[in-house]
Parts: sequence; C-alpha cells; structure tokens
Amino acid sequence: MAAIKSVMVGTTRVDPPEIVGGCRIITLPKIADVRGNLSYVEGGRHIPFAIRRAYWIYDVPGGALRGGHAYHKLEEFIIAASGSFDVVVDDGMERQVVQLNRSYLGLYVPSMVWRQIENFSSNSVTLILGSLPYSEEDYLRDYEAFARARHEGRK
Ligand code: TYD
Repeated sequence: MAAIKSVMVGTTRVDPPEIVGGCRIITLPKIADVRGNLSYVEGGRHIPFAIRRAYWIYDVPGGALRGGHAYHKLEEFIIAASGSFDVVVDDGMERQVVQLNRSYLGLYVPSMVWRQIENFSSNSVTLILGSLPYSEEDYLRDYEAFARARHEGRK
C-alpha cells in the first residue's frame, strides 16, 4: 500500500481541509438532551447519496482488520455508532488514517478509494451506510489492480 501521509483525529479535526480520494468528515446534527443525545442522517441532505443499504460491524476481536478493498461504484458513509476505530483511506498514491470516535461524526468515502478499518476499541460498533445494494462484483480486492485502475483514471 502507499505510504501514510498524515493522521487526523476526529475529536479535534472535525473539518479537515483535505482527505485523500475525495473523502471527507461530515458533522451530523446532534440534539443534546439530558435524557441522552440524538444524531441523525438523511441521504441526499447530510450525505451526498441516497441510502440504499445499512450494515454494521460489531463484536470485533482485538487486533482484527476489516475492509481491505475498494468499490467500483459504491459510496459509503462510516459512523462510529459506539467506541472508536481508525479508517485508513488510500487513493493509490497517498494514504491517510482517520480516527472516528464520536457518534455525530462520519467519514464519507467515495467510490474507488481503498479502505481498511482497524484499531477497534472494545465494544465498538461501526455503522456503514451505502449508496447501493450489496454486490460482490463491485469489489476491488486486489490492491495492485486497484492502484493501476486509479492510475489509468488519472491519465
Ligand atoms: P466484506 O464487505 O468483505 O466485509 P468488510 O466490512 O470487512 O469489508 O463482507 C464480509 C462478508 O459479508 C462477505 O462474505 C460479503 C458479506 N456481506 C453481505 O452479504 N452483505 C453486505 O451488505 C456486506 C457489507 C457484506
């Protein structure tokens, strides 16, 4: 994989200038209440796609890695619904690590961005909203093939 360029921490950098591959941190509404906080997300309003799918990753054993692929077409929005983890994003040239650790922050990841999720805290829940239904054909699971496709796309 490409070299890591920089590290950003969700708590302190809610509006980072640039994340590789067109990724960006989006701050969601937060309704603070003594009974507990509430956040929400509407497709096409807070995030730049209509939501066609939601899935979540939980009960992650210590040291496990998720992801490790890109998608041809799928766009995703990744939220730390509970706990924290790092999302490593890579456009075939540069790599950045984005730590998510607040339930009102999410990371928008466009298509054709390699991602890996790691460093999960215990009891973390990763909520992922997607622009398309599941399709194995949409996955790019070979990093070199992904980097070549990105390179071709830049010409
Ligand atoms: P995968 O996307 O490889 O997991 P990760 O989140 O680590 O990238 O998916 C793991 C398995 O789950 C794989 O067999 C496909 C299946 N799966 C579905 O059936 N539907 C889904 O929406 C997702 C995300 C995965």
